[in-house]
Amino acid sequence: MRVLVLGATGNLGSRVLSALLQRGHVVFAFVRDPSKLPPGIQPLLSGVEQGDARKASDIKSAAVHNGCDAIVNTAGYAAMAPWVDAVICASLEIGRERGTPLRVWILGGQGLLDIPTTEYRIVDYMHIFPEHRHTWDKLRAVPQSAINWSILCPGVMHALSRATYPLATDASAENLQVASNVPPNWSLKFLCIPVLGGYLNIMNQASAYGTSLEDNADFIAKDLLDGHQSKLIGEKVGVKQRRHSSR
Ligand SMILES: NC(=O)c1ccc[n+]([C@@H]2O[C@H](COP(=O)([O-])OP(=O)(O)OC[C@H]3O[C@@H](n4cnc5c(N)ncnc54)[C@H](OP(=O)(O)O)[C@@H]3O)[C@@H](O)[C@H]2O)c1
Repeated sequence: MRVLVLGATGNLGSRVLSALLQRGHVVFAFVRDPSKLPPGIQPLLSGVEQGDARKASDIKSAAVHNGCDAIVNTAGYAAMAPWVDAVICASLEIGRERGTPLRVWILGGQGLLDIPTTEYRIVDYMHIFPEHRHTWDKLRAVPQSAINWSILCPGVMHALSRATYPLATDASAENLQVASNVPPNWSLKFLCIPVLGGYLNIMNQASAYGTSLEDNADFIAKDLLDGHQSKLIGEKVGVKQRRHSSR
């Protein structure tokens, strides 16, 4: 796909650039300061746009100018309003004008995921980054056919190496377990205990959901190969690291 990456100088965005290039996408970076792009990557990009990711007009003009059919939004602090509002607004306008929706990946957090077998989300028990609720409410309000969105809901992401092109050699989407709407392989332990069970259930396992920036970057890049046929469209996406001997 022709992909515009917002936040391309950040921890995740810089690695998303590399992963997209490695997966054969046509890649455009959207940044405030191009000099902060990872060394050596700029000549491989099809374009670099300067703008403010809080402004829908900047995002729209960058995507339209480069004929992008996908946006990955890693800019800013995912849970806060300006970034989410701007990318949704720009994507809605582009989709409306083209008569075909954009494919969009947005960042959320693990707290947005549902606790299996319950009516609760992790954020309902642990008020870490509760602002992610806003992102979810905004996305849910988007008519289904207007934006082909997915929201990645990782726990803490760590770097395997500096942001480079190519990515660290063992970085791969295959290192992640993935589930729609719930954390993959979530244990139901403690849930049957009245009142405290939900808290104990989360405290017992949430920290095991750290993943690498590189694996998440490749995961998004791999999914975009499926374009508008991705099974993850309209889903909250939970990830968990598979066991990896060298990490
Ligand atoms: N890291 C984690 O463990 C984690 C876990 C769950 C969710 N998330 C979410 O994932 C997303 C990416 O995380 P990250 O660690 O990669 O964040 P990061 O390293 O802080 O990167 C943020 C990026 O956003 C850019 N940015 C900030 N304000 C901007 C603006 N007004 N216009 C254009 N670009 C702007 C920054 O550009 P400059 O270089 O110019 O500052 C930077 O490239 C965030 O939304 C975060 O909330 C992160």
